[in-house]
Amino acid sequence: MASELEQMDAILDKFVLDDDTLFKVSSLLLQQMERGLSAEHNSIATVKMFPTYVTSFPNGKETGRFLALDLGGSNFRVLTIEMQTDVKIAGNIYSIPEEIMKGPGNKLFDFIVNCLEKLLLDVDQIKDTLPLGFTFSFPCVQHSLTSATLVFWTKGFECSGVEGRDVVQLLNDAIQRSGKISVEVIAFVNDTTGTLTTCAYKDENCKVGLIVGTGCNACYVEDTKNIHTLQPGYEDREKMIVNTEWGAFGDDGCLDFLRTKFDKEIDKESCNKGKQVFEKMISGMYMGEIVRKVLVEFDEKGLIPQRLPNRIREQGSFKSKYVSHIEEDGEGLYPKTKSVLWKLGFIETPEEECEILKRVCRRVSTRAAHLVSAAVATLLNKMQRPETTIGVDGSVYRYHPFFKQIMEEKIADLTDPKYKFKLMLSEDGSGRGAAFVAAAAVREKREKDRKL
Ligand code: GLC
Repeated sequence: MASELEQMDAILDKFVLDDDTLFKVSSLLLQQMERGLSAEHNSIATVKMFPTYVTSFPNGKETGRFLALDLGGSNFRVLTIEMQTDVKIAGNIYSIPEEIMKGPGNKLFDFIVNCLEKLLLDVDQIKDTLPLGFTFSFPCVQHSLTSATLVFWTKGFECSGVEGRDVVQLLNDAIQRSGKISVEVIAFVNDTTGTLTTCAYKDENCKVGLIVGTGCNACYVEDTKNIHTLQPGYEDREKMIVNTEWGAFGDDGCLDFLRTKFDKEIDKESCNKGKQVFEKMISGMYMGEIVRKVLVEFDEKGLIPQRLPNRIREQGSFKSKYVSHIEEDGEGLYPKTKSVLWKLGFIETPEEECEILKRVCRRVSTRAAHLVSAAVATLLNKMQRPETTIGVDGSVYRYHPFFKQIMEEKIADLTDPKYKFKLMLSEDGSGRGAAFVAAAAVREKREKDRKL
């Protein structure tokens, strides 16, 4: 009979992905990316590789005042961004009430416009028509820089009447309904695009934007000639950002060989069953829940000396941020681990339990970092650039103590050594990114008009 420790290890070993497995993940992902870019096979691709119509990148010569909306997680932000010799930002952040996240779509857009109105009143610009960049971080088919149809909601949103509709139009309709403000939507972007753009403002080698937060996704700069799903009229553009939407990788079952029973349970219990399979193994929306499920399994099998408090049986009680807190504790030290255990209702916290919890967190977060690394390596090997900077944002990447380090090591293992890379933390890409894209588009138009 295997000891308790051996039995726990056998469960945790399912989270270990060796390099052969990660190479396989990478080649499967490449196959999906190629399908996504092809006009013929896009319909069967899980990774849709949406063209973003972002072809102008900020070069530091942008000026003016812009508005930005940022919707994509449980918080919503409205910002004003003033670009002169430097960039000044002001604005408000709101948490989105559950009834708005899951209610009728027009209520969501009325809520957004209401927040915008308040900001314009605060900055005394309610009467002006300001250019606006809209970051909307969900999978959308874009038709131009200012038109995008939501394919389906992700990350817990379920507003009715939005899937299959043009989101910019829904925003404009809500503005009309309000009748109090006037804005011009200049750019619609995904948070990955915003992240790439803000980092590219500082580092011209930045050609990939990555988010590891509530969700997980990346975009990159592609040669326009390789994107076969474009609307006509962009033939003269050399490069364009492509939003991979790789969170949906595995939705056809191609990753089932590595999914654990915990991943499958999480999917079954989610509001978007069968969707975002890759994202559900990585992102902050699910990471804590995976850890919780493993702990419950240990408990049910009687592998942990102390019975777990009931709180841990509640879905969502183990927050993803706890994973980062716990892993901050150094070798053999447990102050943060203990404080998490207290929050969960443990009265006593012997070091043995602390160590078990830490090991579960480490396995789950390392697997996430390895899967993201395999996906980033796929892009680097595909792009074949001697040097690439990857702009990164998102709570998991930002707050986990070793996520960056694990990624640096694993990307290097999985990428051809000819292609050097650097990870760069973005400064609020999803907030200011849309304004940057809008500003670059305005500048380019001004330059063209001047030439004519
Ligand atoms: C989800 C969304 C995607 C977004 C990502 C990160 O995967 O579908 O559009 O970029 O989350 O926020």
